[in-house]
Amino acid sequence: METTLLLTHSALRYIVLIAIIYTVIRSWSGLLLNKEFNPIDRKAAAIAMGLVHIQVLIGIALYIIRRHFDGFTVMKALKEAGNIEGAAYVRFWAIEHIAMMLIAAILITIGQSVSKKAHTPQGKYLRLTIFFTLGLLIIFAGIPWPFIKSWGVWL
Ligand code: HEM
Repeated sequence: METTLLLTHSALRYIVLIAIIYTVIRSWSGLLLNKEFNPIDRKAAAIAMGLVHIQVLIGIALYIIRRHFDGFTVMKALKEAGNIEGAAYVRFWAIEHIAMMLIAAILITIGQSVSKKAHTPQGKYLRLTIFFTLGLLIIFAGIPWPFIKSWGVWL
């Protein structure tokens, strides 16, 4: 169960990223080229948001199953023992990953909702562009990529 959730969460990162990047490209081009708002833009944003929500739910399950909330106490003990690298690893899972991903998920959810409420195509594109681009950058930065973390994994 735990292994399946972890593998699903790890693999889903690529689908989530592709869905957000697709929406971001469409919204930037709609904004810059003054396009009419297309129903595909709305669908792309809704699908990207839905995938982010699924990822958040699996993430919360993993956070509980793998007891990362214990990290707050473990972190202190590791720091006191002088294990700075260990403390940074524990802090990443206890605080950094969850905080960044939740902020990004909130931004993407707000973006999808405020874009729907805008009255002009340019207003819709502008709101999607701002919120989804910010969300994308934060999600990318919050992933433990192997080229950033020595213990990061591709899958
Ligand atoms: C778009 C959002 C997210 C993306 C792209 C993402 C991506 C990832 C990736 C790539 C991993 C590494 C998997 C591995 O080591 O095999 C991971 C692990 C994990 N993520 Fe996320 N994540 C997201 C949101 C969240 C959220 C919101 C939470 C918590 C509420 C969370 C909790 C976790 C946990 C607990 C692990 C396992 C850490 C471990 O014990 O090794 N994730 N995530």
